[in-house]
Amino acid sequence: MRFYYVTDMHLDTRIARALQGIPLNEHTETAERIILSYCAQLLSGNSYTKDDILLLGGDVSPWRNINQKFYRLIAENFPGHIIAILGNHEVWNYMDLTTEPWIESLSDLIQNHLDVRNDEEVLKAPADFQILHNEIAYLDSDDNVMNRIDPKDMTPVELQNTLQYSKFIVLGGIGFSGCNKSFNALKGIYRNTIRTTEEDRELSDQFNQLYEKLTQSITDKPIIVLSHNPMSDWNPDPAHKNNCWYVSGHTHENVIDEKNHFYADNQIGYHGKDFHLKYFDLPEK
Ligand SMILES: [Fe+2]
Repeated sequence: MRFYYVTDMHLDTRIARALQGIPLNEHTETAERIILSYCAQLLSGNSYTKDDILLLGGDVSPWRNINQKFYRLIAENFPGHIIAILGNHEVWNYMDLTTEPWIESLSDLIQNHLDVRNDEEVLKAPADFQILHNEIAYLDSDDNVMNRIDPKDMTPVELQNTLQYSKFIVLGGIGFSGCNKSFNALKGIYRNTIRTTEEDRELSDQFNQLYEKLTQSITDKPIIVLSHNPMSDWNPDPAHKNNCWYVSGHTHENVIDEKNHFYADNQIGYHGKDFHLKYFDLPEK
């Protein structure tokens, strides 16, 4: 199984730069051309199959309409399974210059982005598309459609039963930064949505508890931990587990540790020019 991945594309910054301060609502066609061009670059250079998995690690942009366009284009042109998560930029309560209403709360902001998974254009695309927030996606060995579950209230036995035929499992979420002593909510990385260390720690703890429950329940199947923040931001003891593969972004410092299954080396960033997917393969059983 091949897992492609990319994080931190920051399309809004790129579009704003190209428009040189002209309000986006006056140039939506230009913005769409820019998004199309980045999608084409991103998917070029590989041939994909319906069994391939694409992991999108957050920070596409704070604006749903930009992200929605991006997800639609990717889903139209990638034949396999797409699993996206949100980044800290997706939860900025940022005034959209186009048509979107002002949204205040973290849960409403998250839901606004998650609603894209019900978008008709995305649903009718060839790709099997999911966005996860503190959720699990998995593929059973006898079918080729991803399932999504919320593990919060599931017991270890329920998790084991539900996931017993899965080929792989993806736990996805922002992760948050409660374990990072310097680059955290107090630095404004969530803008006004999360403003205190306490909230940041609580959100990180929620994600970490899901990770611990899942990895203690499932020890014999591959688990992909797709978090926007690196594991060290949300886990106080970030040691790797043998059946886990960790994909993250956010730091804009590209690092990879293949021996320990850490993949944070395709963070495009605000100025990166090399838009392409990287990948790793899971060993065949
Ligand atoms: Fe980020």
